[in-house]
Amino acid sequence: MFNIMKNPIGIGILGCGNVGSALVSLLLQEPDEFFIEKIAVQRLDAKRNDYVDTSKLTSDANSVVIDGNVDVVVELIGGTTVAKQLVEVALKNKKPVVTANKELMAKHGFELLALANECGVDLLFEASVCGAIPIVRLLKESLVGEEITRIIGILNGTTNYILTKMSEDNLSFDESLKLAQSLGFAESDPTADISGRDAGAKAAILTSSAFISKVNLDSVYIEGIADITAQDIDFAAKNGLVIKLVSVIEKIRQNGDPDFKISIRVHPVMIVKSHPLASVRNSFNAVFIEGEAIGEMMLYGKGAGGLPTASAVLGDILDAKHNISLRTSNRYTVPKERSILNLDELTNEFYVAVDVADEPGVLAKVAQVFGSNNISIASMEQNGFGHNARLVFFTHGSKELDMKITVAQLSELEVVKKVGSVIRVMAKSQ
Ligand code: HSE
Repeated sequence: MFNIMKNPIGIGILGCGNVGSALVSLLLQEPDEFFIEKIAVQRLDAKRNDYVDTSKLTSDANSVVIDGNVDVVVELIGGTTVAKQLVEVALKNKKPVVTANKELMAKHGFELLALANECGVDLLFEASVCGAIPIVRLLKESLVGEEITRIIGILNGTTNYILTKMSEDNLSFDESLKLAQSLGFAESDPTADISGRDAGAKAAILTSSAFISKVNLDSVYIEGIADITAQDIDFAAKNGLVIKLVSVIEKIRQNGDPDFKISIRVHPVMIVKSHPLASVRNSFNAVFIEGEAIGEMMLYGKGAGGLPTASAVLGDILDAKHNISLRTSNRYTVPKERSILNLDELTNEFYVAVDVADEPGVLAKVAQVFGSNNISIASMEQNGFGHNARLVFFTHGSKELDMKITVAQLSELEVVKKVGSVIRVMAKSQ
């Protein structure tokens, strides 16, 4: 085997925000391994940490991806237009690329991985999902022989932080979000966090890695946490449950079909407190994996923030460096097209809150709608009286489509003022 180990290797960085500057600090600790050749930034005059050598800064990102002294390109600018073009040019120039860009990988990952393969260089993206948690490598390498059946992840730190603060410190949604922003893990536009889109992009990447399947962001069913109320959180707590925003990726075989379908979704759940995911608090991320041979496994760690994400980037840089020295690149298994299961076909247990008029016969009318749509009620409680009467139901396992129809019909009832939250329940600890 050839060994052309060049020491140190030149790194070109695109973007020097939170993660970029943390990466610079890590690279500077290993001068025998790396030197920073160039850093592309949007604003040359922005305030930076003292250790960032401003003579390396350039506003010309293109010059970085074609620079002869750059051996590995690190893409940390985000977005899917400029970032995609730069990654393509780097790969075509035979430069391995390391990226933390989940949106780019969730939307254009296959195309870019195919290009990397064609060019014989690495495109590595560990940092795009769950920051410091080495989940992509785990799925692609350690668990490559495992028959993974389901993955449930808490993949967004901001929403997990908000839900924790609302449930443990009685803070409002807005107060909790402001705190998350001040701590630096919310996206610049936090809508991506709150709406579940950030978690959706990460779920798409994990699905592709776990099931070697062609899944992109458009295949993910997404609900966010904007409608979760303090009442829902209190009610969950009273029933031994915690509300979490989860990404669920499942392999589903129907009616003896030879091939499986994939269910991929992001939505809040009420999860039983004894489930390992219920104890994942604040901005931490976790990935709970279920497989035929492994049983259950959970990875837990920091999914956002400069240094944790930079640590994952550094791992990929070292991987690329190793491959450069061996004149090789990671193999890329061409993913299969798979059918995505329509959410309507799934069965879930639900929590449903319905604001009603507190009058005789109301409960019967509401219960009738559930029953006529094949939904069996597991328990019901009335909270409040008069104008504030609220009926709260837990159902047995029900078809998603039946629940959709039930909610629509309940909203039409004269005695129903409003159907409040409808939240799926994971009541079993196993
Ligand atoms: N905004 C993301 C989060 C950062 O809160 O998890 C990492 O993608």
